[in-house]
Amino acid sequence: MVSHRKLSTSHIIGIREMSEEDIQKILDYAKEMKNNPFEYSERLNGKILALAFWEPSTRTRLSFESAMLRLGGRTIGFSSQAGTSLEKGESLTDTIIMLAGYSDGIVIRHPLRGSAKLAANVAERYGIPIISGGSGSQEHPTQALLDIFTINERFNRLSGLNIGLIGDLRYSRTISSLLFALSKFGRNRISLFSHPSLGLQEELHYYLTNTNLELIQAKNLAESISELDVLYVTRLQKERFPDPMLYNEVKGIYQLRTALLNSAKPELIILHPLPRVDEIPYEIDKSNHALYFEQAKNGVYVRMSILDFLIGS
Ligand code: CP
Repeated sequence: MVSHRKLSTSHIIGIREMSEEDIQKILDYAKEMKNNPFEYSERLNGKILALAFWEPSTRTRLSFESAMLRLGGRTIGFSSQAGTSLEKGESLTDTIIMLAGYSDGIVIRHPLRGSAKLAANVAERYGIPIISGGSGSQEHPTQALLDIFTINERFNRLSGLNIGLIGDLRYSRTISSLLFALSKFGRNRISLFSHPSLGLQEELHYYLTNTNLELIQAKNLAESISELDVLYVTRLQKERFPDPMLYNEVKGIYQLRTALLNSAKPELIILHPLPRVDEIPYEIDKSNHALYFEQAKNGVYVRMSILDFLIGS
């Protein structure tokens, strides 16, 4: 096993605050783990990870659980308020204090922006790391790490790429984190395909205009698909739309058509953080372009790497 050094941070709250060096260390270690997964099966013997999920999740919660088990650790936690004292009105702060006493690290998913940061401020007093599994529409940092791991695995670089982002660019926290992550590497061309009401959050757009990224508001995927190396598809985040009328207006307009792929480069990869609703027809799953299930599987290795860095010794 190749030894690894510590990260410069003790929590993973957002990609924006992470250093390129820390990101690179996580990716490199995840690659080692993917190549030799059984070499790491005792790294976190005796450690406990708490999974505190105030919102639904399949991939993030279960891949963290799988990662912890593969490292020899164990998990506790909840995936809804039901059956916990959250139903009695217990606060986020008190819940984190409790979990800090029961575990060696906490993964938190919460609907409010700033929730992971608040949890980290609380857990810091107890020396327990917090990892965000998604905070409102703000950030989903570990998703971005597995996204760029997948891109790097295919292209062996994280610069000089043409990347198209399609769908709900406004309420998708995976989009924010992915763009923050890409902005830390070399120049990439980012084509944005979205309804005017679902464009990037203004603050994010402003931040990115001062980075390496070349942002283009693209008109039509059919005209641009031949130039793309990566097409990153997102679900409309119905639960975060302020107005159900808007959702009804835009739903279905970003469904990929299989015939479009006839114009794509052979090396184009299609990514999606999942879950999908109707953005990608099932028949595209058979295409060589479809990489979203491999992307989700990479979440285990990337999260193993993060857990070992933050909880391992
Ligand atoms: N990509 C992602 O966050 O999926 P889950 O909501 O299932 O965790």
